[in-house]
Amino acid sequence: MAIRERDPHTGHMTIGHEWNGITELNRPVPTPVWWFLGAAALFSVVFWVLMPAWPLGDTYTRGLLGVDQRTTVVQKLAEAEQQQAGWRRRIAAADFAEIEADEALMRVVRGAGSALFGDNCSACHGAAGRGGPGYPSLVDDAWLWGGAPESIAETLRVGVNAPHPDTRVSEMPAFGHDQILDREAILQVAAYVRSLAEPVSAAASHSQAVAAGKEIFAANCAACHGDNGQGNSDAGAPNLSDSFWLYGGDPQTVFRTIFYGRKGHMPAWEHRLAELERKILALYIRDLRSWPEGARR
Ligand code: HEC
Ligand code: HEC
Repeated sequence: MAIRERDPHTGHMTIGHEWNGITELNRPVPTPVWWFLGAAALFSVVFWVLMPAWPLGDTYTRGLLGVDQRTTVVQKLAEAEQQQAGWRRRIAAADFAEIEADEALMRVVRGAGSALFGDNCSACHGAAGRGGPGYPSLVDDAWLWGGAPESIAETLRVGVNAPHPDTRVSEMPAFGHDQILDREAILQVAAYVRSLAEPVSAAASHSQAVAAGKEIFAANCAACHGDNGQGNSDAGAPNLSDSFWLYGGDPQTVFRTIFYGRKGHMPAWEHRLAELERKILALYIRDLRSWPEGARR
């Protein structure tokens, strides 16, 4: 029930409702609230006049200040593009060592390189650059053609066994198929090759084959792979004495490699990617090796 009565403590009227013994005073709205409402109303009127505000059919009130979000965005994009062009110019002008020492430039390399690698290279070399049988890992320390940035950039420019006039040429002869060596000799030289990478286990189990294989190797293989199988980056001949294998180090795969030969194909990128893009990729690949395992995509 509504009973309007005067509050004995403050002298104000109550609003006349009671909730479990609690009543409310009937006070006017405080002046600061009126001021605030007035200021807000004034602000919106001023804002309508100065800024774009009301839709009018297919146009709108543009406001006296002429502010336009679209021009702002266009301006910002142009600024970003200019900044990008600046980065690109600096990467194009600097040499490899300078760029690798410049953390700000390397950040640009990582961003642009990751996109370029994903679009052009990961199909063969794997998203993380780890490669697979026949496709070299680009993140280990074994290089067929040299790991200096200049060598990598050259590999990218001309390719390997590619239809490019300067292509790098790589061919592991088919010693069995072309009847250069008989089966027995291939088994022996294969045992020797495996003993280079795993000296203890392989040498112990076929020491005779390994000794015979060593002579066959000196006569047939050392010209390309080096006297101790350490490889030769001019011929793209892999190091056979490390733990990295391009095609595989198990007995069957090594036998197949020597019997049938190998001829990897890497496209030439000179006419598909700009010089700057190839430079970025060479830097990106070298940088990729220092990333923690999980960070490589
Ligand atoms: C069609 C598959 C294919 C694509 C695509 C490809 N590669 Fe290769 N790449 C190869 C093969 C195969 C080799 C090994 C060639 C050989 O046997 O010497 C190779 C070799 C390389 C080497 C030399 C490695 C070394 O140990 O010296 C580099 C560097 C390289 N690729 C980078 C790239 C980059 C960067 C891209 C992308 C622009 C790319 N590759 C795209 C197949 C490919
Ligand atoms: C004309 C130079 C040449 C000669 C001679 C040669 N190789 Fe090779 N060998 C290569 C090249 C180049 C490759 C890499 C092929 C590729 O990248 O596709 C290779 C690859 C290999 C591989 C594969 C390594 C891996 O990581 O999977 C083995 C094993 C090998 N050679 C053993 C031999 C043996 C054994 C002989 C002698 C009987 C021999 N090669 C003679 C050039 C040669």
